[in-house]
Amino acid sequence: MTESIVQKNIPLAPLTTFNVGGPAEHFIEVQDEEMLVEAFAFAKREGLAITVLGGGSNVLIADDGIQGLVIKNSIGGITYTEKDSEVEVTAGAGVVWDELVEDVVVRGLWGIENLSAIPGTVGATPVQNVGAYGVEVAELITGVRVYDAHEKTFTTLSPRECAFGYRDSIFKHTQGIRYVVTKVHYTLSKSPVPKLEYKDLQSTFGEGDAPTLMEIRDAVIAIRKKKFPPLAEVGTAGSFFKNPLLSQEDFDALKEKYPALPGFPAERGTVKVPLGWILEHVLCVRGVREGAVGTYKGQALVLVNHGGATSTEVDAFANMIEKKVFDATGIVVEREVQMKS
Ligand code: EPU
Repeated sequence: MTESIVQKNIPLAPLTTFNVGGPAEHFIEVQDEEMLVEAFAFAKREGLAITVLGGGSNVLIADDGIQGLVIKNSIGGITYTEKDSEVEVTAGAGVVWDELVEDVVVRGLWGIENLSAIPGTVGATPVQNVGAYGVEVAELITGVRVYDAHEKTFTTLSPRECAFGYRDSIFKHTQGIRYVVTKVHYTLSKSPVPKLEYKDLQSTFGEGDAPTLMEIRDAVIAIRKKKFPPLAEVGTAGSFFKNPLLSQEDFDALKEKYPALPGFPAERGTVKVPLGWILEHVLCVRGVREGAVGTYKGQALVLVNHGGATSTEVDAFANMIEKKVFDATGIVVEREVQMKS
């Protein structure tokens, strides 16, 4: 059955928000776990490597496209289970993330409202440990159901097993490559737990304000509108690079050189430095452009495809930025966007 629905030579650029890259050699869209198992069996029979694609909002696809089988994960469904003062929300990996956020906000459930308007699907949230405006999704995730391609079984990983870090999890490392996320469990609160400490939110709401869930969601949407390009007009994958985590010592040394450099306490005693600040204030590369690729005028950490950019061009532009950062600060920048070939 799978053979009949596997397509060949399918353009992938339109399935990504960057709108860059070549086709999938073989392509299948899976709607449920059974189809996912069949797709893996097909790839095994045919000797094809597998690449799983979600909402395509954090990937840069190679110009030659992707060899083997590309599986678009469209497993749907949202269920709600009441647990005293909390509700466990279970969503399929293919559910559009912001549709889930809107649904829980309308139902009066607290926890992920600061993560409004982030492009992509539910399945990517544990992989990337998606975060914004002072909230990381790892704080709300209570389990991740996965297909284990080694054991050919489904299992649920605990948050501890997911090994969440800043934009990081087991799924981005060798030992996690065997897993495909099929469902994610989030535990949300029925009573208000607003998180308004992030600078942009503090300047929206006054001291002592008690905004509603929908007011917070609307504020986040408005902030993002200013900082991120409209996806319908400009290709982008959001922040292209991770913010560097420096040792206190390295941060202090850099702060001596650039006294206005911001820094925030992060995991394992490190200091998180907003790379966007370095790009704008040290390198003066906010809103610059080379051919069809550039940094966004509203946010330097965001690379954009102004139309017709190739993956090679994006890669060359990113390399140029990485070199400038290294030369000025000694920081080795890590990419947040995942390169797929
Ligand atoms: N800044 C500048 N100029 C810029 C960009 C940033 O000076 O062009 C400075 C400002 O000082 C600002 C600070 O950097 O206060 C932080 O900027 P912003 O709040 O826009 O956040 P960010 O650190 O650039 C991170 C995430 C975003 C997330 C925002 C909001 C990463 C790699 N990026 O960006 O996530 O939406 O915080 O919480 O951690 C993504 O991962 O794709 C993403 C968009």
